[in-house]
Amino acid sequence: MSNTTWFTHDRFGLFIHWGLYALPARHEWIRNHERISNEAYQKYFDHFDPDLYDPEAWAQQAKAAGMKYVVLTSKHHDGFCLWDSDLTDYKATNTPCSRDLIAPYVAAFRAAGLKIGFYHSLIDWHHPDYPVDGLHPLRDDLAFRQQEAGRDIARYRAYLHGQTRELLTRYGKIDIIWFDFSYPYMDWGWAKGKGRDDWHSEELLAMVRELQPGILVNNRLDLPGDFETPEQYQPFSPVEVDGQRVVWEACQTLNGSWGYHRDNLNWKSPEMLIQMLVDTVAKDGNLLLNVGPNGRGEFEPRASERLAAMGEWLRLHGRAIYGCGSSDFVAPPDCRLTQNGKRLYVHLFAYPFRDLHLPGLAGKVAYAQFLHDASELLLHEHDNANPSNIAPKGMPPNTLTLELPVQKPAVAVPVVELFLR
Ligand code: GLC
Repeated sequence: MSNTTWFTHDRFGLFIHWGLYALPARHEWIRNHERISNEAYQKYFDHFDPDLYDPEAWAQQAKAAGMKYVVLTSKHHDGFCLWDSDLTDYKATNTPCSRDLIAPYVAAFRAAGLKIGFYHSLIDWHHPDYPVDGLHPLRDDLAFRQQEAGRDIARYRAYLHGQTRELLTRYGKIDIIWFDFSYPYMDWGWAKGKGRDDWHSEELLAMVRELQPGILVNNRLDLPGDFETPEQYQPFSPVEVDGQRVVWEACQTLNGSWGYHRDNLNWKSPEMLIQMLVDTVAKDGNLLLNVGPNGRGEFEPRASERLAAMGEWLRLHGRAIYGCGSSDFVAPPDCRLTQNGKRLYVHLFAYPFRDLHLPGLAGKVAYAQFLHDASELLLHEHDNANPSNIAPKGMPPNTLTLELPVQKPAVAVPVVELFLR
């Protein structure tokens, strides 16, 4: 296990899914969804020409959004490689783009001060020795299945290990490797899913840790890793494994698709995304938020607007996120709590009329203010022994009441900062 101190401090990262699937622009699983053969998928390889690719612009947007680390797909399930691998011809350098896309990515994000990660697909629908199974695009083509029955996973495994070695030796210090994914529990009768015995995960993991001491590895090698990876949902509470709290990172999309998806209208609002980040930190997790750049190599306006809104909120509220985690105090209705030592943050998902009641906090708060403008919020403590200051009926004892202005401040999620005694 590696030391995760920087990771649990930084809390917010950028996921980037980019590859040939940006061209059809209808989900990165398009080959699976539409049962597309290697030959039929070739047109995207032949037309891959991201002439506007500018990783410095990506890095600037990520930095302005308040993100502290980044994870880019070196290869997704379609097998297409963004770097100039010696082990395949199926790579960006052989498309009209004709350059290694990983080296400038690493340089740009590193220069912007972000930590660097690679997402690397264990699954490979293009490699000639990746056994055809129930997730394969041509799973329903019986003749193809028969013709390909002799595929040898040992050869694929050597490729997987060799490419991992390339990625971890060519680009300097790499902070995260995000393998995706294992599915040993799947069984179609005629084929089984794949897991640690297929990837030789223990050997692969040992190599990763040897080549990049301190690197963080996710949990999808079908082995425990440095962090858990709940995908496209928010955990109910801090994540536990065998009764112990663990480091975790929710990965989330802007619109349900990881790859660029032109016609998808399922966009989360900026407010929902900010609340998602808060909810994650309030449960001791990280948020890895995805952008799928388009085939020209740009973040589309719908993505950029959302990143900018998160950055504007974080500019004012960063200290309620970075270095923070869950609190043992109980959040009032419609709120989330984050805490960093003696600073307790109340994030208001709905804005109440005037009184914010905080159970259990009477006598414990020295000062309170709105975080966005450092304006004082007056405290009212009730004292049931004092007839002129009895707590309102039904209010639990030891409740502290804060007096809020009637008008909601002009920020997506207002935050109250409490200085604990
Ligand atoms: C998945 C999907 C995928 C996506 C990923 C992100 O398991 O297969 O397309 O890359 O999760 O978490």
